Amino acid sequence: MRTLIFNISELVTLAPLVKENRFNRIQDEDLGIIKNAWLLIQDGKILAIGDSHLPELKNTICIDAQNGVVMPGLIDSHTHPVFAGSRSHEFSKRLKGKSYGEIAQEGGGIAYSVAQTREATVESLAQNATHHMMSMLRKGVTTLEAKSGYGLSVESELHQLRALKLASQMTPQRIVSTCLALHAIPKESQNERAYIHEMVTQLLPRITQEGLASYVDAFVEKDYFSAQEAKTWFLEAQKLGLATRIHADEFSDCEGAALAASLGAASADHLQFASDDGLRKMAAAGVVATLLPGTSLYTGIPFANGRNMADLGCAVAIASDFNPGSSPFENLRFLAAMAGVHSKLKPAEIIAGITLVASKALGLQSKVGALVPSYEADLGIYSSSSIAEWLADMGKTEPKLVYIAGKVAYRSSSFA
Ligand code: NIG
Ligand code: FE
Repeated sequence: MRTLIFNISELVTLAPLVKENRFNRIQDEDLGIIKNAWLLIQDGKILAIGDSHLPELKNTICIDAQNGVVMPGLIDSHTHPVFAGSRSHEFSKRLKGKSYGEIAQEGGGIAYSVAQTREATVESLAQNATHHMMSMLRKGVTTLEAKSGYGLSVESELHQLRALKLASQMTPQRIVSTCLALHAIPKESQNERAYIHEMVTQLLPRITQEGLASYVDAFVEKDYFSAQEAKTWFLEAQKLGLATRIHADEFSDCEGAALAASLGAASADHLQFASDDGLRKMAAAGVVATLLPGTSLYTGIPFANGRNMADLGCAVAIASDFNPGSSPFENLRFLAAMAGVHSKLKPAEIIAGITLVASKALGLQSKVGALVPSYEADLGIYSSSSIAEWLADMGKTEPKLVYIAGKVAYRSSSFA
């Protein structure tokens, strides 16, 4: 059985970028928009796309897009959805003048979430994560990356990753999992080097044995992990087939961008204080620069200079960084609009940044993030009559229908 989606006002394909295997220097025409379009799905994949002469309709389910926009399924390439407890009291503290760092020094921050996450069961962590993932789905997110990092011991990190695996069986989305054991140094650990040694020798082999993650990450920042020490973690993980992504240069320039380039990381994220030299190296190495505007909005730190990154030739993605402390936002479209307003990305860069470029950040660029024949049929049908309207809406309206691998994963109650 096939599915035909017809009467599409504007279909965003990103076909020119797919054709050139290019993820940077994005212009309006790279969106490959087709007006008055149709799209045909077979066996979970896109079979054909056109703008006239509807295909043969025998044995075909026909879905009227009612002159709305169709977009690739959105991709959130950086989230932390597996945690227990709430950090809402920290927001009030920040409004009274405390910084993220000061709150962490008082026992709040990551350590606060770690204490509660360690106590939670795999099932309750998975249920909590599922709740957030479903909310992302209602905004059109069909693929997301999700990290551990609130365990910070061998057993607790495994516990969190198992919860993530369970959550990925409870949600329809594609989930890419990352071990972020180097999120902070737990208070019971002697020092940075000893902690990393323990994680390398005891945690990494267990992760590969159980198939619990495909990436590792580290928070490379003053008071967290230095580029030099984190490098050991990344190199050892690479030997086991685990690829690299980095929280880099969020509060200060710790040479995280250059480290990401030297390691051939898939992505370096945050980057408010990355040097131009580091960004140039990332551009040359094809490391995706990921903007996380939610942390700037919520904690008041500067927005990253996305314009500069794009102009230096970086591939730029935008992600939610959804987490309980520095970015509680599940609405990727809203954050993408903020990356336009505050990080000065242009419309085409924003759209590519939450679709194909984000897919590249997850190594999935040959499978999802664009609407071209042979790609997975992951997409959203929206009531917006144009892409301009879709963008200006900032994620307020839900998609009418979301498909993942050609199956309806979400149907809005307003869609008959
Ligand atoms: O990506 N920057 C480091 N880690 C998270 C914050 C996590 C937390 O505060 O719980 C981030 O913003
Ligand atoms: Fe993060």
